[in-house]
Amino acid sequence: MEALQLIGPFKQLLTMEALPLKGALSDSQLWIIEDGGLLISDGKVMATGNYASLKKEHPSAKCHELTGAHVCLPGFIDAHTHICFGGSRANDYALRNSGKTYLEIARAGGGIWDTVTQTRKADKETLTKKTVKLANRHLKTGVTTLEVKSGYGLSLNEEIKMLQAIQEANNEVPSDLIPTCLAAHMFPKDYAGTKTEYLQELAQKLLPKLKAENLTNRIDAFIEESAFSPDEIAPYFEAAKQLGFDITVHADQFSTGGSKVAVDFDAISADHLEASTDIEIELLAKSNTIATALPGASLGLGCNFTPARKLLDTGATLAIASDHNPGSAPMGDLLTQAAILGAFEKLSNAEVLAGITVRAAAALGLKDRGKLAKGYLADFSLFHTDNYQEILYNQGNLKPCMVWKNGNLVYNKHKA
Ligand code: NIG
Ligand code: FE
Repeated sequence: MEALQLIGPFKQLLTMEALPLKGALSDSQLWIIEDGGLLISDGKVMATGNYASLKKEHPSAKCHELTGAHVCLPGFIDAHTHICFGGSRANDYALRNSGKTYLEIARAGGGIWDTVTQTRKADKETLTKKTVKLANRHLKTGVTTLEVKSGYGLSLNEEIKMLQAIQEANNEVPSDLIPTCLAAHMFPKDYAGTKTEYLQELAQKLLPKLKAENLTNRIDAFIEESAFSPDEIAPYFEAAKQLGFDITVHADQFSTGGSKVAVDFDAISADHLEASTDIEIELLAKSNTIATALPGASLGLGCNFTPARKLLDTGATLAIASDHNPGSAPMGDLLTQAAILGAFEKLSNAEVLAGITVRAAAALGLKDRGKLAKGYLADFSLFHTDNYQEILYNQGNLKPCMVWKNGNLVYNKHKA
């Protein structure tokens, strides 16, 4: 066993333990250890508690004694990103802000298809490098686990190229990248066949290959007028479920329909939900499917936020993710976006912080992270403050001064 390390004292250690998975949360439910310490070994948390007491109980532990005020939180988990891509869509952004809609731009040849063209032109190494660069940028904002989707390849070989690039990037960054296949992001314009035939080909040829090469265990699809309908996607999801994949859905972004598909297929998460009405909210709240809000897409497109308050009050689980992508969500700053969603949707600190830690872990089916408790990964960030409320109050402008992943210090602002 690796030597014990003790880190602290933290003015406040927020463990994010003992929170219910579903429904509204109040700040009084947060477990806050004052003058806290974290005892870690082999990349995992061995104990949390009062720093001085832990030091007395474990005199052999190597101490990282901090000076000044620090608040410690679990590493953030960004459960929905598209950070593997080629090109830029700055022109789309300018067009949208001059009055064109996202769907109009897509119909005119911009949008997702433009990124597909740029991504296909890029070789795997270029995509790996780009993904590494963006993952490391997220790391400095406290994100230690990031989901990364394919979906800009839209052919068997190009989707595999993207997933291999994500896999290679994962080997090069301190954070964990969780790959998801989004080959059903839109119907590829150059496909010689119908939408149904495309999906059939994915089911018959791509899905078994993903399993065989261990490239992902998650399958996503965009359910929307401009992409795939619930009826079109059903056989594809059926096939994915039979092979044991987890399902996740881009649902109710502009029109409803996706969240019902998500619930029908017992998807692990339904993401977007900006267009969800009371009917969809009710459906999600009654299900095991986690509702993931993507405030970065609302900010990027200048549209309404996911009805996060209503989802929580109706009993849903709310995760919050950045959706970082070149089109609808170019900012890519989870903490800023989560804080802004909280201000607009009137979410408690506990709801926002759970949405980017423990509830985000659930959206990825990860049981080993999202809170700081015995046996969990030693993934955590320190913020220079004596009050955790300052973190969301600063709306993303208070960045972590240190980030630890698997018990290693992987970012130190003072040494950067
Ligand atoms: O989550 N909604 C569809 N897919 C992405 C956007 C991707 C893009 O515009 O490139 C999203 O917002
Ligand atoms: Fe997305």
